[in-house]
Amino acid sequence: MVVSAREEASKIGLQILQNGGNAFDAMIATEMALAVCYPFAGNLGGGGFMVYRTNDGKTGSLDYREKAPLSASKTMYLDENGDPDSELSRVGSLAIGIPGTVAGMFKVNEKFGTLPMSELLQPSIDLANNGFEVTSGQADMLNRLQTTFLEVNKDSILYSRKFSSGDTVRNLALAKTLERISQNGISEFYGGQTGNVLVDFISKHGGIIGTEDLTKYEAVWRTPVKIAYKELNVISMPPPSSGGIVLGQILKMIESYDLNALDHNSSKYIQLLVEAERRAYADRSFYLGDPDFVSIPQDSLLSEEYLKQRMQDFSFETATHSEEIEHGEIIGIESDETTHYSIVDQYGNAIAATTTLNGAYGSKLFVNELGIFLNNEMDDFSAKPGVPNMFGLIGAEANSIAPEKRMLSSMTPTIVEKNGEFWMSVGTPGGSTIITSVLQTILNVYEFDMSMQEAVNAPRFHHQWLPDEIVFETKGFESALLDSLKIKKYKVIQQESKILGKVDAILKLPNGKLEGGADYRGDDTAVGF
Ligand code: GLY
Repeated sequence: MVVSAREEASKIGLQILQNGGNAFDAMIATEMALAVCYPFAGNLGGGGFMVYRTNDGKTGSLDYREKAPLSASKTMYLDENGDPDSELSRVGSLAIGIPGTVAGMFKVNEKFGTLPMSELLQPSIDLANNGFEVTSGQADMLNRLQTTFLEVNKDSILYSRKFSSGDTVRNLALAKTLERISQNGISEFYGGQTGNVLVDFISKHGGIIGTEDLTKYEAVWRTPVKIAYKELNVISMPPPSSGGIVLGQILKMIESYDLNALDHNSSKYIQLLVEAERRAYADRSFYLGDPDFVSIPQDSLLSEEYLKQRMQDFSFETATHSEEIEHGEIIGIESDETTHYSIVDQYGNAIAATTTLNGAYGSKLFVNELGIFLNNEMDDFSAKPGVPNMFGLIGAEANSIAPEKRMLSSMTPTIVEKNGEFWMSVGTPGGSTIITSVLQTILNVYEFDMSMQEAVNAPRFHHQWLPDEIVFETKGFESALLDSLKIKKYKVIQQESKILGKVDAILKLPNGKLEGGADYRGDDTAVGF
């Protein structure tokens, strides 16, 4: 089964499985297809993370996150008054981190691939040549960004026109880029013709990524975070993503409560999760960053004793205020616009992968000659301690900018075992809200007996320490419930048309069959055989 943000990408992944490929082969084909038909977040010019569990129970994770360029500096986004210029880290050439996606796909192929890259790339080359159909959501978003595309690129791009649902987009330049990668391998992107075009393009637009940045880039295998929660073993992304540690902290802080007795999305249930989220995100902001650069007290942050003590001042009577909460003391001593896909193959291997350009269409810079958008991942660094990024997240020294450092992420591709067996593959886009959407989806199935699709559909809420507010989706929360929280001194935010994440997940049912959960909030599609 393959569940992704686009039907075309899910079907391409499925075809690879039906041709005898495994989940890792299907991952590469799906990720490349998303780069073609979901340019909003699918990419060659961005990065991502993948967590896997093989059919013999081995687990691991791959970090193909972008890195800061060699000439990046801690103060590169500060103006003469020492204040961050958020435009520079969010839009245009200085916002770009060194892309990791192509390196990630080759790394996966090298370790787990059973089919040649040329076979895995061919369906995406065909899709780019033949065209993909624009959905109504895509048309709306592309139409809204027309002025920005023109301002940033100072030229028209492939997407410079008015779109209607059902239009076809053929990306011939991207088809050629993929063909060259297929023929020449990884060095095509990190040094060959494609790399040279990329470096020239970035330099012409005032950026600082050079040839050496590309040649030095490597994707890295990392040991995943493992959290025991009741009968579950939650396997998730370690730093430079905050996902696994923050998810683990929240789960351990709520483990001793009888959640089912509190009722799904009741006032008390929301309070409990919010108070655990508040405390975990406060730790995130202080302790987490790129583990190749900073020492992260992971064991202490996940220790039962520490987390029990963190929740000691929690009471159902009234809200704790974020100004009263700082990061905890460790003894002894990282838009919403990302995309996730889950794959389980016929051999019992499972992957969860989340990939991103950061904001919608990344930096908005589009390389016409290559047919790709470039990320604005540099905004995930903390440009100045205490000043929020585009997700309202505050960081500290651990996530400051340095050459070749990876910016802290919230992406949380996660695999869950139940009683030692594969049980669920889950993840979502949503910036800082990713972790809390993954959390609620797991709890919806495990604690509240929902089906996978019901768990994905269920209304979601989010708290991230600062700003001190609970954000609710527009649908599914009655005003009486929100009022009961306001009485307890919670700040409640419920905007029009607000959604939190687009969760794509796969659940193994007790009869051994798979159930896909594809989020109705997007154009997401589950396909299987
Ligand atoms: N760019 C979103 C994240 O990595 O969390």
